Amino acid sequence: MNRLNKDIIRTHINNDVLRHPIHIYSLDTVDSTNRFIKDLPSREGLTLCCAETQTHGRGRFGRKWHSPSCENIYASLRIKFNHSLSKLSGLSLVTSLAIIKTLNELGLQDDLKVKWPNDILWQGKKLSGCLIELMTLPNQHAELIIGIGLNVNSHTANHPLPDKSWCSLLDITGKLHDRNLIIGKLINHFFQSFEQLLLTGFEGFAEQWERVDALKGQFITLSQQNELIHGQANGVNSIGQLILIDNNENIHYFSSGDTSLSSIAVYNAT
Ligand code: BTN
Repeated sequence: MNRLNKDIIRTHINNDVLRHPIHIYSLDTVDSTNRFIKDLPSREGLTLCCAETQTHGRGRFGRKWHSPSCENIYASLRIKFNHSLSKLSGLSLVTSLAIIKTLNELGLQDDLKVKWPNDILWQGKKLSGCLIELMTLPNQHAELIIGIGLNVNSHTANHPLPDKSWCSLLDITGKLHDRNLIIGKLINHFFQSFEQLLLTGFEGFAEQWERVDALKGQFITLSQQNELIHGQANGVNSIGQLILIDNNENIHYFSSGDTSLSSIAVYNAT
C-alpha cells in the first residue's frame, strides 16, 4: 500500500491552490496532527500536516480518534484568517460538503449523508469526521485548524470499536484507495468551498446541504454543555445553525453541539 508522500500530494493540488505558498508535512507518527500544526510558527499561505498514525488522535468533545497505522487519512490544514469571525458561520458544514464532493469524485454517490454539523455517514455508519479549531493570536489575527479523519483502507472487522458503528472506503468499494490523491482532492475542494463561503456565506451551500442532511425531519437529542435538548430537526438556517422544534413547538437554533437520533417521539406517541 502506498505511503503518504508530500511531493506526490503536491502533484494532486490544483494550480488555484498552488498560487498560495503551501507547506506540507507528511509524518510517520505524531500525537495529533491538529496539535502538531498548532505548535508551528505562523506562516503565510496554507500549511498541511498528515501522518501515518496518531498516538493521541482527538475527536470532538474530547473523544479519542482511533488512528491505525498506514491505512487512513489523518490530516490537518492551517490557514490564516483576516476577516470578521462571523464569516465563518457554517464552516463545519461547508467542510463536510467539501469531503462529500471528494467522495463523489471517487465514485461514491448514494447513501452518503452528513449528520450535523460534520459527521460523514455512509448507510448510517461513520466514514469521516472533522475537528475544527480557531486560534486567536495577539495581533488580532486568527488562524483556523481544520482536522480531517477519513477511514480509507482499514478493514472494519480488524478494528472493532465498542459502541461505534463505522466504515471505510475499503468496506464500501471493496478496493484500496490512494491516500495521496485523496488528500490532494480534499485540499482542492476545501479551498474552493472556503473561498466561496467567504463570498456567499452559508446561503450559497443551502441546496447542497439539503441533499445530504441526515437529520432533517428526525427526532433527535442534542447535547450541549451537559444539557440534553430533545426535538425534531428541521434543517438549518441561513448561517448553518441547526433548527430544532421541541415538544412545545418552541424553535431553537444551535451553532454547536452533539446530535444523535432520539426515541423521544415514541414516548410522546404512547
Ligand atoms: C470527530 O468526528 O469527532 C472528529 C474527528 C477528527 C479526527 C481528525 S484526524 C486528524 C486530526 N487530528 C486529530 O487529532 N483529530 C483530527
